[in-house]
Formats: sequence, structure tokens, C-alpha cells
Amino acid sequence: MAAGSLKNGVINGNVSEKKVTNSNLSAGFPFVKIILCKILLNSLLIMQRVFVFGKGESEGNKSMKALLGGKGANLAEMASIGLSVPPGLTISTEACEEYVLGGKKLPGSLWEEVLGAFKAVEKEMGAFLGDPKKPLLVSVRSGAAISMPGMMDTVLNLGLNDEVVVGLASRSGVRFAYDSYRRFLDMFGDVVMGIPHALFEAKLQRLKNAKGVQLDTDLTGLDLKELVEDYKNVYLESNGEKFPSDPNLQLKLAIQAVFDSWDSQRAVKYRNINQITGLKGTAVNIQCMVFGNMGNTSGTGVLFTRNPSTGEKKLYGEFLVNAQGEDVVAGIRTPQDLDAMRCSMPEAYKELVQNCEILEGHYRDMMDIEFTVQENKLWMLQCRAGKRTGACAVKIAVDMVKEGLLDKPAAIKMVEPQHLSQLLHPQFDNPSAYKNKVVATGLPASPGAAVGQIVFNADDAEQWFAEGKSVILVRAETSPEDVGGMHAAAGILTARGGMTSHAAVVARGWGKCCVSGCSDIRVDDTSKVATFLLVMMKEGEWISLNGSTGEVILGKQALSPPALSDDLETFMSWTDEIARLKVMANADTPEDAATARKNGAQGIGLCRTEHMFFTSEERIKSMRKMILAVTPEQRKAALNALLPFQRSDFEGIFRAMDGLPVTIRLLDPPLHEFLPEGQIDNMVRELAAETGLSEDEVLSKVEKLSEVNPMLGLRGCRLGISFPELTEMQALAIFEAALSVTKKGITVHPEIMVPLVGTPQELGHQANLIRGVAKKLFSEMGSSVEYKVGTMIEVPRAAFVADEIAKEAEFFSFGTNDLTQMAFGYSRDDVGKFLPIYLSQGILEADPFQVLDQKSVGELIKIATEKGRKANPNIELGICGEHGGDPTSVAFLTEVGLDYVSCSPFRVPIARLAAAQAAV
Ligand SMILES: *[C@@H]1O[C@H](CO)[C@@H](O)[C@H](O)[C@H]1NC(C)=O
Ligand SMILES: *[C@@H]1O[C@H](CO)[C@@H](O)[C@H](O)[C@H]1NC(C)=O
Ligand SMILES: *[C@@H]1O[C@H](CO)[C@@H](O)[C@H](O)[C@H]1NC(C)=O
Repeated sequence: MAAGSLKNGVINGNVSEKKVTNSNLSAGFPFVKIILCKILLNSLLIMQRVFVFGKGESEGNKSMKALLGGKGANLAEMASIGLSVPPGLTISTEACEEYVLGGKKLPGSLWEEVLGAFKAVEKEMGAFLGDPKKPLLVSVRSGAAISMPGMMDTVLNLGLNDEVVVGLASRSGVRFAYDSYRRFLDMFGDVVMGIPHALFEAKLQRLKNAKGVQLDTDLTGLDLKELVEDYKNVYLESNGEKFPSDPNLQLKLAIQAVFDSWDSQRAVKYRNINQITGLKGTAVNIQCMVFGNMGNTSGTGVLFTRNPSTGEKKLYGEFLVNAQGEDVVAGIRTPQDLDAMRCSMPEAYKELVQNCEILEGHYRDMMDIEFTVQENKLWMLQCRAGKRTGACAVKIAVDMVKEGLLDKPAAIKMVEPQHLSQLLHPQFDNPSAYKNKVVATGLPASPGAAVGQIVFNADDAEQWFAEGKSVILVRAETSPEDVGGMHAAAGILTARGGMTSHAAVVARGWGKCCVSGCSDIRVDDTSKVATFLLVMMKEGEWISLNGSTGEVILGKQALSPPALSDDLETFMSWTDEIARLKVMANADTPEDAATARKNGAQGIGLCRTEHMFFTSEERIKSMRKMILAVTPEQRKAALNALLPFQRSDFEGIFRAMDGLPVTIRLLDPPLHEFLPEGQIDNMVRELAAETGLSEDEVLSKVEKLSEVNPMLGLRGCRLGISFPELTEMQALAIFEAALSVTKKGITVHPEIMVPLVGTPQELGHQANLIRGVAKKLFSEMGSSVEYKVGTMIEVPRAAFVADEIAKEAEFFSFGTNDLTQMAFGYSRDDVGKFLPIYLSQGILEADPFQVLDQKSVGELIKIATEKGRKANPNIELGICGEHGGDPTSVAFLTEVGLDYVSCSPFRVPIARLAAAQAAV
């Protein structure tokens, strides 16, 4: 079979030659010999650094991205499945690594290897680099394993000089030849020699003015010949050196420029920002030129095999007749849609459609493709998996299973967590439209978009919300007292606090947009004004927040609602079929429980009872009376007032979770969190009025309560042991609620969780109280419910004695927030002061409150799992904490063999996806 014949100095194959089989190829095909030689060479000598690709035969394939870069690996793959790819070679990323380590010198025999491989390409083409009679031109492109803007892009038409251009002109016309030459001089100068493009542009403009023409295309061949002389002078004027006319030298310099660009400031910065590590370098792709600018029967285009925003199964792309790739990018001419190509080049179009089908079938994915048509012959220049929106990702995954292209596990791998989070939050209609209205940028604490009128305190937020207004709560920082207002607000903006500050954690829990730590604003909540760098805003003015970028935007930006679809439902049902880990939710209210259920939670893994005490004035007052009580009787009286509230909250939650388990944690936080904030005098006066105690009594009680280190003080089960009436009241409320809803036909599975246990005796003490309450109530009522008693494992000691604790516990729930706090000795509330420094200096790789630290917390979980299961094989194991919604943490926990993770209701779909992905 003849290799592509040469006409007009450039490739000219024809359509029917496309599907080349291997048996056709072996006969007399120069690649084969070269490949055999190389294999011999490799086994004897060195690593292979240069890989050829071409008609139906390639040394590389798509699985070799780490070595050949994404572009090189896919070119090799396309060629070997029989698509028309202009032949060429790829220099490996390892060669780049050698080059960089070796002080920016081409490694030993690399240049000889390149020339050797290039001979095979020249032979196939019947054309030769630098040969004026049979000129061969090439493109040189970079390509790392991960697509990476910032590196050297492209040099086209390499191989031209004053002699070669004459040969090209005699075959393809003077205008085409000199147009190619001047484009090459410009690109090579700009990209390889560091001569600013603007200097070439200035010469072009001067020539156009002199000739009195408007467009580049109005210049004649002779004009362009003159321009070539001007361009060559630019080299002299700018660098004091002549343009390197030797094509071999051009190629060598271009290869070095690609290698150098790996270390360029832009590329390094891009890798840092995107946390890209572990790559060896960039590959270099050297490929025969094909020309889309050879008249009406040529052109160039890009396409996605499906619509990348909606996922609709229809080619989606652009085409430009008589143009080269950079004309599309430069936006000089407006591209047409693909229908234009179907009309003007039906044959090439038909083949393109076929190729798209072949590639989708082969890669089993939606592809992003670049192609060129040269005189009606289609050439494939690049293919890669297409970037897509969340809606598109889900639709394609579901469609491809229906089309039989994918099985369910493969479909599940195809959708990324951020695709889902995009789908679950309202989006700005057009994020690029508001860029000039961004007045400040803070930390992207909780994703999503929020639009509202600004208010400066929680009460106003609640009140304005009740009046039907959308508000953004702006605070210096938030505290537990603000939760009502935070809940009412569409979004939250704070001047202080990090990604794990109160505002951030609470907002993420609710799936509410939050920008925290925005140091560009000053908040004055007395006069209710916020001062941004240049703008002052008063209460009631409109702002918008983008929680994924941390942008604070002036005015009311348009939103579109989350796009939930049948496809999403189908897709999520597959995740549950495949996941080994169950996903539960952290929910404190009946509304949260309902949201969790709607998002597919299989139960509640953590219901915190403390938030229930903040939801009304009456509750918080009774709580404070309880805290300040001097005698057990006073305390009991206050608790009795709280009991009905707790019971009705539990009833609501049980109802929402009919048939599913609900894990309720007994009171956990230090008591001072329930006392009013502010100056001590005011607080004492307020409390005295509320409780009927004298101010002196209150003062002495508050002083007794104050702790040096409350997070390590009187909290968790230490409260329930110090005040047994408290545990008894909570247990009674749970069991009464359970019995009462059971009577109404609802199935309940209460699981009572004792917090902050470090010794088996602590759990034993609390479990006895709980079981005692149950026994008494059940016998009084003549009916009972099944329930479990278990504990949080959140103190390192508990992990080490998990076998002893497991004898008392029916379940463990790893409280990874506290476990992280205690493993690192970091206060979660103060971590904002140093964590940003740690992360930027690489002292920590990730925020351990967001990504589970496998070496410490993970190890503790492993120890406790092993010991707990050994002592009690039926024990149920799960985690609750921010990590339950983090994909890498979920993968680790699947590995360890937990039964469930519990996360905020809004992260449930993402955790379900992560759990399924960890299982495939
Ligand atoms: C790709 O090539 C490498 C090296 O020759 C080989 O080990 C691997 O099996 C190939 N993979 C595929 C998918 O063909
Ligand atoms: C090419 O396009 C030009 C401009 O549209 C037109 O005038 C010319 O006839 C076309 N030539 C061919 C061969 O189709
Ligand atoms: C936030 O801005 C980014 C970048 O402009 C955009 O991709 C994203 O969709 C925006 N977020 C929302 C919720 O609209």
C-alpha cells in the first residue's frame, strides 16, 4: 500500500485510503524496520525517548499519557485505530526531565534519535525537511500528561527558509508559500526566540498602509515576499542575530523551547495553583503539516461529539473555510457552524461524522476534536475527552449506558463531584458578565450563588426574611447566636474567619453560599455600613456572592435555579446500587431531615441536640435556667420545661425519617455557648432577670462555669455524668417521641449516641442511665421500641481502648472533627490564624479539617475499627464530621471497611457518588 503521496509539497492522501489494516502495512513499510531496530536498541541500551506515529502504526497508545503527554498519546491512538493522522513523532516527558535535570542541555543521543525517527516519517511522506524539491514542513507542539495552559503552544510551518520557500512556491503558488513563510517567521520568533509578536504586527501594518489595503488577504504574493524580508530584519533588530535558516537548527531550537517552557513562570504558577504534582515534564510533538488554507476545498475546525453544556447527542462545533487553526483562535474571522462544512465538503464531512462515532465508541466518552481539511481530505489533529458542565456530564453518563457504550460502573466514574455540586446549587446566569462589578474577594467557603439585600445582624436577617426579602448577612464574624439569621439569609459574608470558621462550617452544612475571611471589607454593625475598598454600602443595598470564587459583586445579578432532571435521578439510583458504604446525613431539625431524605440519605448519622435549644427565646431561657441552677431540683424544673420542646423536635425528625435510623447525640458543647454574649455586667443583669436569681448568685455561677480551655473542659459525656438529670431528660424525650410516633404507624430506629467518651466507664455510666429510663418508660406505657446505645469516637484514647468500649457500645461513630482537633492539637476555631500560611508554604498539603489525615486520624479509625470489631462483631461503624462529604476521605473510609458516612444534607449526593466511585 502506498504511503500518502506527495503533491504540491504537502500531504495528499485520499479518503478511501483511511482504514488501513496492519497486514497491509507491514509490507515494505519503513516504520516496521525502525521499530524492530529500536526494540533491539532499547533492550540493549537506554530508555526509548522518541515514539513515531503514522498511518495505522504507532509506537504509543492512549494509556501512555504520562510518557507521551495527552496530545501525543491520543495522536498515536487515533493513528493506530486507522484514522487519518498526519504522521510524526513524540519526544517523551522523560526526555524533558533529563533535559531539565541536565542543566538545559539536550540529553546525550536524543538529537540523533529524533533524526533517526524523523527519517521514517520523511520516507513515508516522500518529502524531506529542508529539501526545496520535495519540501516537508512540520508543526511543533508541547503536550504534558495534563492539559496545561502556560507552556509553549505551537510553531507551524517549521522547515521554511529562502530556498525551501521557492520550492514550495513552484508547487503551491507564490502567495501560499510566502504567506506560510511569514507566518512561520512570526510564530518562531515569538515562541522560540522570544521576539514580541507586536514587532511583526507593526511591520505588517506598515506594509498594509503602504499598499493601501485593509485585510491581510488583500496582500499579493509579492507583497508577502517583501514582508518576509521585513520579518527577517525584525530578528536582526531585536536579537542582533539572523533568523536561523537551517531547518535542522530550527527544529532543535523549537524542541528546546518546548522543554524550556515547562519551567516557565506561567507554567510553574499554573501547576502550583492547580496543585499539579508528580509530572515529569512536557512531551514534544513534531508532526507533518497539513494545510487548511489551500483554497475553498480546505478548512479547519474544532468540535465536541456532543453538546458540552446540555449533553445533547449532536455534533457541536465550528468550521472555518480556507484557514489555519490560529485563525480560529485569533478570532479574526467568525467561524461558521458545521452545517457549512456539510454543504461545501460533503465527503470530508461524512468521514468526520464517522470518525466521531469511531472515537466515541473507542474512548467511550464525549470527545473534543481538532481537524483540518486539505483539498477535501480530512486530517485528525487532536482528540481528548471534552470538558463539560454538570448537566452535560450526568446526561452523557446516562445516555451512554442506554446506548450500550458504557456499563454502570464506568458511567459512575465519568461524573465528577464538582459536576454534581454544580447541579445542586442555583447558578449565575452569566458569571463573565459581572467581572467589572466585583468589589472584593474573600475565601470561597461554601459554593453556590446568593443574591440579596445586606443586613448586619441576625435578628434583622430573620425579620427581613419573614417579610419575604432575600438577604445577605454581613458580619465581622458569626457566632452560634447568629444561626437563626444565618439560616434566614440567602448568603453569608464575613470579614474574618477561614474555611473552617463557624460561618463556613454552618453554611456548608446547609448548602448555603458563604464567603468568609473577606479582608477587603470593614463592617460597622452599629451604623450598619460595610466599607469595601472603594465602595460604601448601607443596609438594604443589593449584593451578590459567588461562593465558588469568593467574589463579592455589586447589585442584583441574575440567577438560574439548579437543573434537576430525570437523568440525575436515574444516575443517583445507580450510585446506591454500587456503593458499599451507606450515606447518612447530619440533620438537627425536621426540615434538614426532609432535605436529607430528598437527597437520598439512608438515615441520620448525627442529630445534634444543642441547636434545638437556640430555636426560640423560651428554649434558650429554660436552658440558661438549667445551667445556672444551684440545686438538682432547680435543674430538674428547668429540664422539665425543656422536655416537651425536645420531644416534639424528635417526633418531627422521626416522622421525616420513617423507616430509617436516626442517631441522636446527647448534649455536647461547653455550657458557656448557651450564655448570652457581650459585656459581663449586661449579661449578669440579663440572666438575673431571666432566671430570678440575684445578680451576685449569677455572677458567682458564671465565674464557676468559666473555663480556661472549654473545648477540653466540661463538655460531652462529662456533662451527662456531672448532671445525670440532663441525660435522663434527653433519653426520656427521645423514647416518648419514639413511642408516640410509633402509635401513629411510623417506624422508628432511634440510636442514642454518647459524645466524647474516652473510657469504657464513661459510656457504661451513661448507657445505664439511658437503659434505665427506657425500661421504666416502656413498662409504664406497656409498649416499647427497639433502640441502640453507642458512642462517638472522637478522643484518641477512645480509639486505643475501642475493644473495651465496644463491649458497652452497639455502634461507633467517628467524630472526625474533634479527632482531627485532638490529633493535631489545633483548635478548629482558631486554625484560620495559621492554616493559610501552612498551606501556602507547603507545611501541610491540605486542610485536615476538610481532607481526612490518613496518617493520624485515619490510623486511629483503623485501630478502633479493628479492636471494636474483634470485641463486638456486630458493631456498626460510621463517621460523622465534615469529612463525610469529601471524596478522597470517603474512598479511604470505604477501604477501611466502615458501614456508613454521615455528612450535611446538601453533600449527600456527592457522598453517594464518592461512595460509588470508591467501590468501582
Ligand atoms: C500501550 O503500549 C504499552 C507499551 O507498549 C503496552 O504495555 C500497553 O499494554 C499498551 N496499552 C494498550 C491499551 O494498548
Ligand atoms: C471559492 O470561493 C470564492 C469566494 O467565495 C468564489 O468566488 C469562488 O468561485 C470559489 N471557488 C471555487 C472553486 O469554488
Ligand atoms: C462562580 O464563578 C465561576 C467562575 O466565573 C463560575 O464558573 C461559577 O459558575 C460561578 N458560580 C455560580 C454558582 O454561578
